Amino acid sequence: MKFGHFDDDRKEYVITTPKTPLPWINYLGSSEFFGLFSNTAGGYDFYKDAKLLRLTRYRYNNSPVDNSGRYYYIKDGDTIWNPGWQPVQTELDSYECRHGLGYSVITGAKNGIKAELTAFVPVHDPCEVNRLVITNEGSTERKLELFSYVEFCLWNAEDDSTNFQRNFSTGEVEVVGSTIYHKTEFRERRDHYAVYSVNVPVDGFDTSRDEFVGLYNGARNPQAVTEGHCHNSIAHGWALVGAHQINLTLAPGQSRTFIFVLGYCQCPRDKKFVSPGVINKEPADALLSRYQTPEQAEAALEELKEYWEGLLSTYNVDTPDQKLNRLVNIWNQYQCMVTFNMSRSASYFESGMGRGMGFRDSCQDLLGFVHLIPERARERIIDIANTQFSDGSTYHQYQPLTKKGNAAIGGGFNDDPLWLIAGTAAYLRETGDYSILDEDCAFDSDFSIARPLLDHLDLSFNFTASHLGPHGLPLIGRADWNDCLNLNCFSEEPGESFQTTGPSEGPVAESVFIGGMFVKYGNEYADILRHIGKDERAGQVEEAVALMKHTLETAGWDGDWFIRAFDAYSKPVGSHECEEGQIYIEPQGMCVMAGVGVESGKAEKALDSVKERLDTKYGIVLLNPAYTRYHVELGEISSYPPGYKENAGIFCHNNPWIACAETVLGHGARAFEVFKKTCPVYLEDISEIHRTEPYVYCQMVAGKDAPTFGEGKNSWLTGTAAWTFTTISQYILGIKPQLDGLMIDPCIPSDLKGYTLVRRFRGVNYHITVDNSAGAEKGVKQITVDGSPISGQIITPVTDRSDVTVSVVMG
Ligand code: BGC
Ligand code: NOJ
Repeated sequence: MKFGHFDDDRKEYVITTPKTPLPWINYLGSSEFFGLFSNTAGGYDFYKDAKLLRLTRYRYNNSPVDNSGRYYYIKDGDTIWNPGWQPVQTELDSYECRHGLGYSVITGAKNGIKAELTAFVPVHDPCEVNRLVITNEGSTERKLELFSYVEFCLWNAEDDSTNFQRNFSTGEVEVVGSTIYHKTEFRERRDHYAVYSVNVPVDGFDTSRDEFVGLYNGARNPQAVTEGHCHNSIAHGWALVGAHQINLTLAPGQSRTFIFVLGYCQCPRDKKFVSPGVINKEPADALLSRYQTPEQAEAALEELKEYWEGLLSTYNVDTPDQKLNRLVNIWNQYQCMVTFNMSRSASYFESGMGRGMGFRDSCQDLLGFVHLIPERARERIIDIANTQFSDGSTYHQYQPLTKKGNAAIGGGFNDDPLWLIAGTAAYLRETGDYSILDEDCAFDSDFSIARPLLDHLDLSFNFTASHLGPHGLPLIGRADWNDCLNLNCFSEEPGESFQTTGPSEGPVAESVFIGGMFVKYGNEYADILRHIGKDERAGQVEEAVALMKHTLETAGWDGDWFIRAFDAYSKPVGSHECEEGQIYIEPQGMCVMAGVGVESGKAEKALDSVKERLDTKYGIVLLNPAYTRYHVELGEISSYPPGYKENAGIFCHNNPWIACAETVLGHGARAFEVFKKTCPVYLEDISEIHRTEPYVYCQMVAGKDAPTFGEGKNSWLTGTAAWTFTTISQYILGIKPQLDGLMIDPCIPSDLKGYTLVRRFRGVNYHITVDNSAGAEKGVKQITVDGSPISGQIITPVTDRSDVTVSVVMG
């Protein structure tokens, strides 16, 4: 069942009922100010940091779900309704929500009145703009009262939801005309406040939640709206809100447009007050003056649309498969940008208060957005490298505001160091900018001992090379990519952290998966070294890689697939010898992607085993058979009920590894089949089962052992976005940036007879036509560049013109 449809021309998803299987959300904001915006206008805003600088409140595990947001109530006699249905839930005569790139439009109608709410965050201002157009579509004059409503958060979202003995006393506001200033803690150490305003005179306002909503009411039936008038309340402590009342009379056919702005304002420390207790409103006045007219709001919206058009023109494909086109050209790249902006901080499943930036997460995210914003990728790589320790190990997370490693979690996740090579290599292939390798990067944020990024990469490689276990495989530490495979934890106490309990330096437990990474990213590192003339070091790296390859094919091989790991007793995990969890997806994907076992036929066998033992109609489960009891020697993985999360859920992040691995073996049809199964746009018709948004990937789909097989969870902020974009754009459609240029190497189903695409690469637009009338799955017969045939599959970067025509014949 569908709950809407795609509008590809407008690059929007159109939701046609407010009662979606879960709130279906969008992200507003592109650099500093962000809003989460659901299809019923739920969600919240923050400036830079979802934990520390949150403007509005949100309650995650509330019932009914998703009933805090920026709400507009229309009181039409005794009928009260919201354009987005929530929170009053009055049945609407019509409803539509269009989620676009960085903006959303909700249109609701009731009894001849139409309300259209357009929400966006301008490219250059720290605010959310809500343009509300109310139209009388009937033939008689109508009198209405309009109320706006947001609930302020006292900045630190965690403190705001726990420290009530203080917070019920600190709240302060000022009100001047139509503008509400939320200034809690401005009297002391903050030099910022929030502003909530509308561009017309108001007939009333409220700032105390108890006055507007009523102590025992709720957003669903706010007292002031029911009574038909605000109380002009000034809040002193307790819960603070911003609410405006506007009375309007609309002639038949008449429309009125209101521009509401919720913004973040900062004052110089020495200019915070104009008189004792009265805040300096200049920054707010300046901000609001830019959104006083509908024309100003429209211009800001147009600028936002152009910003996104510009970004998405970097990679654009045209195949006969419309669903594939919309995924690649619009939604997958959009999700990659959102994961770049948010990391794993704020979604409808991540509260914005927990994790900072994951070391491995941020490195992998780079793979998906480096082609869109290479300059910011460069900054990101350097930020990440600055947190590395001098022995090459890394913090597992760092804080986006301070850019410092997160000591509470520490390090010891032994896959982390190698991801730095993965991210940097992707950047170099995209840009050819080797100067990044000379950038001095700190150790543990200490710049006095900074060394060039190249040294950091070397330390990453060496860290793995020098931390091997009894079989010669890399030690796993606290965990590898699979945060829940905790082989040194042995936790028996409820509430203990699975990751940080127990020693991280277990000298025995090893990871075959990290071995696969060592081969893949070791080879990429050697490639970089050769390109900068460091042949001797490259040779050493290649030697270590060759040895690891051998170890993986011997100690790491179970007979029909790659073993997953060896536990702290050196017993295999992910082997036919195990009682449960006999085969895991990750080492099959990573080892084959790395080329391990290709010549010996083991790669082929491993992928056959994946198909036979892990594949399902909704995707490939992480392991099989699922763990049915808690295995203390394995950790969190066995804490999940069978079929959920890492315990045999369909982890969308590593399904693409199998698709990539299939292309390594030339299996275009199978690669595309794997790609399609977890791809949201192909799941739109079963939204009642899948439940999460059909326009973005979710982290996990319940596996075959789960009672809710096929149900998605944790949409939006997942490394899946970057890995699927890498898979489809590079491994399947075959446009692979290399250090030497742009490689063309498609691996597609034989019935895909051809496609065209535009790829901007190092400042030049390559207009590529792939002809597969031969019906091949892999293999390129000829490539011509501006009419001249080239030898090999790599196009040397062009520097003397901005557009290049490439034709590729497969066969
Ligand atoms: C989740 C993992 C996640 C980890 C992060 C676990 O509970 O299952 O997916 O990576 O927490 O700390
Ligand atoms: C989500 C985490 O963000 C990621 O770092 C991890 O690799 C996966 N879960 C698997 O555990």
